[in-house]
Amino acid sequence: MNEIFKRTSVRQFTDRLVESEKIEQLLKAGMQAPSAGNQQPWEFVVIDDPQLKDALCEASPYTGPLKRSPMGIVALARTNDMRFPEDVQSDMSAATQNILLEAVSLGLGACWLGVFPIQERMDVITEALKLPNTVAPFSMIAVGYPAAEAEATLRYDATRVSYNGYPRTAS
Ligand SMILES: Cc1cc2nc3c(=O)[nH]c(=O)nc-3n(C[C@H](O)[C@H](O)[C@H](O)COP(=O)(O)O)c2cc1C
Repeated sequence: MNEIFKRTSVRQFTDRLVESEKIEQLLKAGMQAPSAGNQQPWEFVVIDDPQLKDALCEASPYTGPLKRSPMGIVALARTNDMRFPEDVQSDMSAATQNILLEAVSLGLGACWLGVFPIQERMDVITEALKLPNTVAPFSMIAVGYPAAEAEATLRYDATRVSYNGYPRTAS
């Protein structure tokens, strides 16, 4: 899948707004993720209001990409009635990654901003969005049109792979 190898974190964006059809496509990609027992814990908040975006950017010192992007998506995890609560973090990661990959395929750039499990970041977002305790912030994703052509670094490292056991044996 070409998108996997083209994806890289984009942290600088043009002013061009992201079309609503593309935003919807990103959200569809997020919700297409696998989840434990198909529990689909996700909800998403699309943010394009500059003031609200600024408030969310207070969550951590590493939110520069969201400050500079025309929009962002906050991924929320439902906290109630999960069949497999221990898997919610994995489910949410899969959804976040799907959005990053779909962004590449749509000609957009995106950056995952870490939130969960850092309580301070979660608190800032909960406060800014006035979230009820039935959902908890998991990640934020800055999205926009890349300011420059993004170059991904290929990372395949054969020394990290073994077959039929670990560690690798010299042949
Ligand atoms: C859980 C997680 C949290 C991250 N948080 C941030 C962040 O807060 N700010 C940021 O600029 N990048 C963040 N990133 C992006 C990483 O820095 C980036 O994925 C890594 O440096 C590899 O670069 P690449 O995405 O271009 O391959 C995060 C990535 C992950 C998976």
